[in-house]
Amino acid sequence: MAKTKTIYVCQSCGVTSPKWVGKCTSCGEWNSVVEEIEVVDKKSRSSSVPNLLTKPLKLSEISTGKMVRFSTSNSEFDRVLGGGLVPGSIVLLGGEPGIGKSTLALQVALKVKDKLVLYISGEESLEQIKLRSTRLVSHNENCLFLSETLLENILAQIENVNPDMLVIDSIQTVNTEMIDSSAGSVSQIRECTAGIMTKAKAMSIPVILIGHITKEGSIAGPKILEHVVDTVLQFEGDRNFMYRILRASKNRFGSTNEMGIFEMLQDGLREVTNPSELLINAEHQGLSGTSVASAVEGVRPFLIEVQALVSSAAYGNPQRSSTGFDLRRLNMLLAVLEKRAGFKLVTKDVFLNIAGGIKVSDPAIDLAVICSILSSNFDTAVSSNICFAGEVGLTGEVRPVSRVEQRISEAAKLGFSEIFIPFSNKGVDVKKFDIKVNRVKNVGEALKYLFR
Ligand code: TYD
Ligand code: MG
Repeated sequence: MAKTKTIYVCQSCGVTSPKWVGKCTSCGEWNSVVEEIEVVDKKSRSSSVPNLLTKPLKLSEISTGKMVRFSTSNSEFDRVLGGGLVPGSIVLLGGEPGIGKSTLALQVALKVKDKLVLYISGEESLEQIKLRSTRLVSHNENCLFLSETLLENILAQIENVNPDMLVIDSIQTVNTEMIDSSAGSVSQIRECTAGIMTKAKAMSIPVILIGHITKEGSIAGPKILEHVVDTVLQFEGDRNFMYRILRASKNRFGSTNEMGIFEMLQDGLREVTNPSELLINAEHQGLSGTSVASAVEGVRPFLIEVQALVSSAAYGNPQRSSTGFDLRRLNMLLAVLEKRAGFKLVTKDVFLNIAGGIKVSDPAIDLAVICSILSSNFDTAVSSNICFAGEVGLTGEVRPVSRVEQRISEAAKLGFSEIFIPFSNKGVDVKKFDIKVNRVKNVGEALKYLFR
């Protein structure tokens, strides 16, 4: 077997040193030196004879027999993955402490059908897992649990059990004997991920790796971790809200636009398959400052409530604050209102909130944002039967949105009687829907109609 030794390599310029230093002696970068393993045995490293046994193939020659996805029986989790787990893929699940990563992974492990699951936890003892599972009131005889942190033992167990699916909670607790530094350090995480990944790819086992995140919100450890895994999922949501949102920030086997919504209950996470009903509060309807937008995340339409509060600024500098919506975009929309529609909001504080603690990146909620701001400003309610879909451009024009038919049909399904859509969305057969469709060219037209 090849002998190994640890060396210290600057991640910025690549210079090596036998000891750890805080500042690289060559490029002067701080904190860039990381412990790495070097294989000392020169003979085993490379042979000078090139290997021509493996041939490059045409696409038609590559078989995908082993790549059949399987469903995890958790519809929201499947949706974010792009339709299920791909054998041999590594899914990294990151999120704030206490957001429910372990709960989600355990629930998936206990619910997946006819698959042997190996759940390895370095964070919780077997008794703690058992306690949690009794809370979740689900049971699966095909799920094996192990409390282990040493990489070498984990790899041996995987080989021995030969599971159909693997969960590791968390990658930061796994450590290898080959490196001296403590578990959770950059070099430990890199080596352990590489070890698990090689094994999983060789045995075609899908792996759910749970990862901690740093203060800044990115996954703790080297950036390379996110590069090497196939899918990076972020589990987010305010701990005070009951909703949890699962998003993919990288997905080699599906779209990154999809969003899974869960609700944290006493007995675990509930899949929210129809988010509109939860996100719109019937009691708020008919109050000034609220309006409803028909938004789309991924391919799923849902309606959300946009709330605005406009009040006179008490101090010289008016405040603009927004939750769940990009603040710069809010400022832009306020500028459009002032310049293109003639509303003076410079002396007003503007607060904007997307109900339910949800962050929306769909630009089609612009029109609803503008309407809720003016509704609060005039203290005139927007009728609770109206909803909006439209992006607003810098000239005040209402720009076309994607999937407009889905937005209309979602609004119709939830009992709205009118929807505003961009005039420029051509080719929509509005007669098909049981809802009045108003096509508007610019912000002024919509406002004239609403606040006559
Ligand atoms: P957990 O999965 O331990 O979080 P993470 O692994 O991301 O750190 O989630 C813990 C939180 O979830 C905890 O604060 C309590 C809550 N919870 C429930 O509300 N209901 C439940 O059934 C479970 C298991 C947890
Ligand atoms: Mg946990």
